[in-house]
Amino acid sequence: MKNFNICVVGAGYVGLVTGTCLSELGHHVVCVDSDPKKLKFLKAKKIPIYEPGLDKLFLRNIKAGRLHFAGSITEGLHFKGRRAQVVFIAVGTPPHPDGSADLSAVEAVAEAVAKDMREYTVLVDKSTVPVETGEWVSKTMDRFNKRGVAYDVVSNPEFLAEGTAVSDFLKPDRIVFGVTSPRAEAVMRQVYAGIKAPVLVTDVKSAEIIKHASNSFLAVKISYINAVAAVCEKAGADVVQVAQGMGLDPRIGKLFLRPGVGFGGFCFPKDLEAFYWISKKKGYDFQLLKAVKDINESAKAWVLHKVEENLWNLSGKTVALLGLAFKSNTDDMRFAPSVDIARMLQERGVRLRAYDPVAMANAKAIPSLKHVTFCKNAYDCVKGADAVALLTEWPEFKTLDLPRVRKLMRVPLLLDGRNLYDPAAVRAAGFTYCSVGRP
Ligand SMILES: NC(=O)c1ccc[n+]([C@@H]2O[C@H](COP(=O)([O-])OP(=O)(O)OC[C@H]3O[C@@H](n4cnc5c(N)ncnc54)[C@H](O)[C@@H]3O)[C@@H](O)[C@H]2O)c1
Repeated sequence: MKNFNICVVGAGYVGLVTGTCLSELGHHVVCVDSDPKKLKFLKAKKIPIYEPGLDKLFLRNIKAGRLHFAGSITEGLHFKGRRAQVVFIAVGTPPHPDGSADLSAVEAVAEAVAKDMREYTVLVDKSTVPVETGEWVSKTMDRFNKRGVAYDVVSNPEFLAEGTAVSDFLKPDRIVFGVTSPRAEAVMRQVYAGIKAPVLVTDVKSAEIIKHASNSFLAVKISYINAVAAVCEKAGADVVQVAQGMGLDPRIGKLFLRPGVGFGGFCFPKDLEAFYWISKKKGYDFQLLKAVKDINESAKAWVLHKVEENLWNLSGKTVALLGLAFKSNTDDMRFAPSVDIARMLQERGVRLRAYDPVAMANAKAIPSLKHVTFCKNAYDCVKGADAVALLTEWPEFKTLDLPRVRKLMRVPLLLDGRNLYDPAAVRAAGFTYCSVGRP
C-alpha cells in the first residue's frame, strides 16, 4: 500500500473523521481549518466535536506523527516541506435561504490549491454538493492554475453518520469514486487500499447525484413512516407493528422505519432542499421531495398538538424537553427538530426546561433557545413540569425512574416523541402517555 501526503480542508464532523481515519490507514495527513477556536482545540490535542471512538485514533495518530493541523490551506498544502498529493475538500456546504447550497468554501479551496500546485494533484470533493460542482471546481482550477500543472478532480461522497462516524468510515457499505481519468482512479484506490468495501467507480456527476439521491431517499423513508404513523394514530393502529410487517419485506427493509418528531441534522434537511433546488434548476420539479419536507414539518408539530390536546391553555405552562440533539450520540444541534419544537411551544407562551447529555453547550449558543432553562440532568429538568417531551433517543432516557419523574412533575404527562417506552408500563406508572402512531 502506498502512503500519500494528504491535506483535508475543513476539520468538522466529516473532515476530522476523514483525516484521522486516513492517518490511521498510514497516510501522512494535515487537517486544515479556518476557525481559530477549532484549530486551538486541535493543536492542544483536543477534539472539538463529540464523536464516540474518535479520540483514541486521534491521539494515536498525532503521537505517531501522521496527523497534523494547520490554519491555512497554503500551510496545509506543504506542511513542513511535505507537498500534498491528494487534497480532500470537507468544508461546509450550508443552505442559502432559497435551499440551494452555498459552495463558496468549495470554490475557495479549489482556487487555493490551483495557485499552489507544483506537481500532479488529486482534488477530492467529499463535501455534499449538487451535480455539476465538479465541473465548476475544474473551471476554477483552470482559471488559477497558471503553471499548467496536471490535476484531477474526483467526487468521493461521504456516507458516514454522526455517532457512528469512525466505523462508518473504516467499514463502509460502499466507497464511491466519481473520476475523469484512470490515473485519478488509481490514486483513489491506493488512498483507500486499507479499507475493505465494495468500490463503485462512476463519472463525477453520477457520484454527486448518488449522495443527494441517497440522503433524500432516506428522508423519504422517514417521512413515509411518519405519515403512516399519523394514519395509525387516527385509526387506532400501532405503527410499530405496521413497520415490523413492512420491514420484513427485503425490498423495503426494516431500517429507517421508526416514526418520531422529524428528521434533522446537517444532512437530510439541507440535502433534500439542495436536491430539490438543483433538480428544478435542471428542469425537473421533484414534487416528492417537497412532500417529504412538508411531512417532516408536521412531524415536528406533533409535540405542540399533544400538549394542546392535553393541557388546554398553554400560556404559563411548563414543558420539559429531554434531548436536544437531532439524534443520540452526537452534540450536533444543526437543524435539530428540538429547535423548531421549542419555537412552536414558546410562541404559545410555554416555559421550557431542557436537558441533553452532550448537546447543551451547542444548544445554549442558539439565539432562539436563550429563554430555555437548561438543567443539570433529566430529573432536574422535569421538576414542576406540566408535560415532558422525549425528543432524542439517548440511552439514559430509556431507563428513567418513572415513579421519581412522576413525583417531580406538576402534571404527569409524558409525550414520547421517539417511542422509547412501552405504553402499558408508562400508563401503569400513573402517566398520561402519548407516543407517535401507537394507541
Ligand atoms: N455531518 C455529517 O454527518 C455529514 C455526513 C456526510 C457528508 N457531510 C457533508 O460534509 C460537508 C462537511 O460537513 P460537516 O458536518 O463536517 O461540517 P462542519 O461545519 O462540521 O465542518 C466544516 C469545517 O470546514 C471549515 N471551513 C470552512 N471553510 C473553510 C476554508 N475555506 N478553509 C478551511 N476550513 C474551512 C469550518 O470551519 C468547519 O470546521 C458538508 O458538505 C456536509 O453536507 C456531512
